[in-house]
Amino acid sequence: MSLNIFITGASSGIGESLAYYYSRKQYTIGIAARRNNRLESVANECKKLGGNPMMYNIDVSDRKECKDAIEKFLFITKSIDIVIANAGIGGYDNILNGDPSEINKIYNINLLGVSNTVLPFIPKMKKQHSGRIAIISSIASFRGIPEHGGYSSSKAALNNLTDSWGYTLKPYGISLTTVLPGYIDTEMTKDHEFKMPFLMNSNKASEIIANSIQRKRRKLILPWQWKFIIPIFRILPRSLIFRFSPNQIK
Ligand SMILES: NC(=O)c1ccc[n+]([C@@H]2O[C@H](COP(=O)([O-])OP(=O)(O)OC[C@H]3O[C@@H](n4cnc5c(N)ncnc54)[C@H](OP(=O)(O)O)[C@@H]3O)[C@@H](O)[C@H]2O)c1
Repeated sequence: MSLNIFITGASSGIGESLAYYYSRKQYTIGIAARRNNRLESVANECKKLGGNPMMYNIDVSDRKECKDAIEKFLFITKSIDIVIANAGIGGYDNILNGDPSEINKIYNINLLGVSNTVLPFIPKMKKQHSGRIAIISSIASFRGIPEHGGYSSSKAALNNLTDSWGYTLKPYGISLTTVLPGYIDTEMTKDHEFKMPFLMNSNKASEIIANSIQRKRRKLILPWQWKFIIPIFRILPRSLIFRFSPNQIK
């Protein structure tokens, strides 16, 4: 049986790998992101792998662009099986210069981008009485990371959002999976100058993520080693977090 899947942030990294994973199964995949040239090359590769890609050149922080793209996708597919809200950016808060634009941009993409791209699918999923939603959070959501408060708090908000939406959507047969990756080898991490513990390849990550969505797991932490580290990370004294933070303010 062919499935209809919509993935945001599919022009690189985890989203791109997920698009290839589902293409190998010959599914129909809506691939969304801002960089059109990258989307085109992902679409070509999806076709080679046997998938049926449809490109949507959108900025997830633009509510109307998202709504229009999703309407077009649903007009063709008539149904939706899986939505993966994966688009996201990292970045510094830069609060010392008094300018909120950097941090607001992170919230607009990482947080509002999720509601902009997930919620337009809900009426269709409700009508079908089925659907799977995956939201890509981060292990950075468990503490305020020095200089990355916007990023870690945007992901913490996603954890609470998915927790809450899970209750609301369950009676309608809609499952929610919160994905909390550690370090994955993508464009987002390519400039990190420190040694990233348990760094995982994005193809491997996409397989594990897709498998968890399939099994309707509520929460996935990957690589698995972080499951044991996070409880310690959550109670570490602030002084240690500061000392071992890769981007310390000195
Ligand atoms: N890599 C890691 O170690 C790691 C760890 C934890 C969580 N995550 C999360 O995993 C998700 C994917 O990141 P990645 O590691 O695969 O990094 P990536 O290669 O940089 O991918 C990010 C994707 O998001 C898209 N995107 C960014 N802003 C967008 C916007 N305004 N509108 C539409 N698309 C947008 C990018 O496409 P365009 O630039 O073409 O728009 C790109 O396709 C993110 O949510 C990230 O926070 C990653």
